[in-house]
Amino acid sequence: MPPKRNGSRNADKSAAAAPPKAAELLSSRFAPGGYFRDRVVIVTGASSGIGRDLALTFAKMGAKVALIARRKSLLESLADEITAAGGDAFPLVADVTRRADVHDAIDRTVAHFGRIDILINSAGIAIPDRVETMSPADLERMMAVNLMGTLHTMQAVLPSMRSAGTGSIVNIASLAGRRGMPPLGAYCATKFAVVGLTEALRVELFGSGIRVSLVMPGVIDTPMVHGAGSTHSADQSKDPFKLMPDAIPAMPTQWVTWAVIAAVVFGLAEVDVPPGAVLMEKIAALFPGLTDAVLALGARLFDWATRR
Ligand SMILES: NC(=O)c1ccc[n+]([C@@H]2O[C@H](COP(=O)([O-])OP(=O)(O)OC[C@H]3O[C@@H](n4cnc5c(N)ncnc54)[C@H](OP(=O)(O)O)[C@@H]3O)[C@@H](O)[C@H]2O)c1
Repeated sequence: MPPKRNGSRNADKSAAAAPPKAAELLSSRFAPGGYFRDRVVIVTGASSGIGRDLALTFAKMGAKVALIARRKSLLESLADEITAAGGDAFPLVADVTRRADVHDAIDRTVAHFGRIDILINSAGIAIPDRVETMSPADLERMMAVNLMGTLHTMQAVLPSMRSAGTGSIVNIASLAGRRGMPPLGAYCATKFAVVGLTEALRVELFGSGIRVSLVMPGVIDTPMVHGAGSTHSADQSKDPFKLMPDAIPAMPTQWVTWAVIAAVVFGLAEVDVPPGAVLMEKIAALFPGLTDAVLALGARLFDWATRR
């Protein structure tokens, strides 16, 4: 987490976003015979936020979880917590932008657990800025993680899923992948790209036994929306991540976890968080001028609130 800028207000928000202890989630309710018993689940971005919650919940439901991210200590402590609570976790340090790293991590997962049933792509970064002034390098960074990382992991697991004739891939995109909005123009572009890639793969794999789903969250209470994105910017002096004003409500990570579980269990093509949000975006797309005016007003209010 970057240094806090607004004193106690942000300290309060960080406390609210503190990750749950695995023991709290696993201890009393851990069930070796749970719904995902012995299924092998790979979670990218498992060191933080949504990915961490997904790893804990799948472990609680009996799955063997492979944990991918770059921060080794966070992955190892999460794996230790899951193991101590009776689960089965395998931490794998990998940068998803590096194709060789990703293939190595997937090969090690197959060697360790014997197969792969579910891949969840949660690794992602957001560097908010205005399109007019943003650094092209920041867009390249986001593309490398959000789009290319997703491509690398999907291509790495597909041979194993193809030979098994079954599997599930869930990509965490965003509502920002259906409608461009400031100050997230470049991030939106990467998530539109993830949506396109995912939809095309779903059609390619139609009838193969491998299911491909999109989960489309709105604002979720994770380190990403509390300023972690600023550390990803090429221009550290600019610190483009504006801290989210308290007025914008963030949903709990568990809502995304439930959406992912619903996508896997029911083979859903797309799940929004909150439900129906993409439908609202599709209706808004019928009135682009009006939608632009409303979003422009919202963006100005956001700027005003973050500069107070
Ligand atoms: N929070 C929201 O409001 C929101 C809304 C819609 C969609 N999403 C999407 O949900 C996903 C999870 O976001 P979050 O909110 O949970 O953010 P987060 O708490 O900041 O977690 C991001 C995760 O991505 C990993 N990551 C980043 N770059 C990576 C790289 N090069 N290689 C491997 N792992 C990398 C990070 O791990 P390391 O730093 O340890 O590598 C971390 O575990 C993202 O795809 C995000 O775009 C979030």
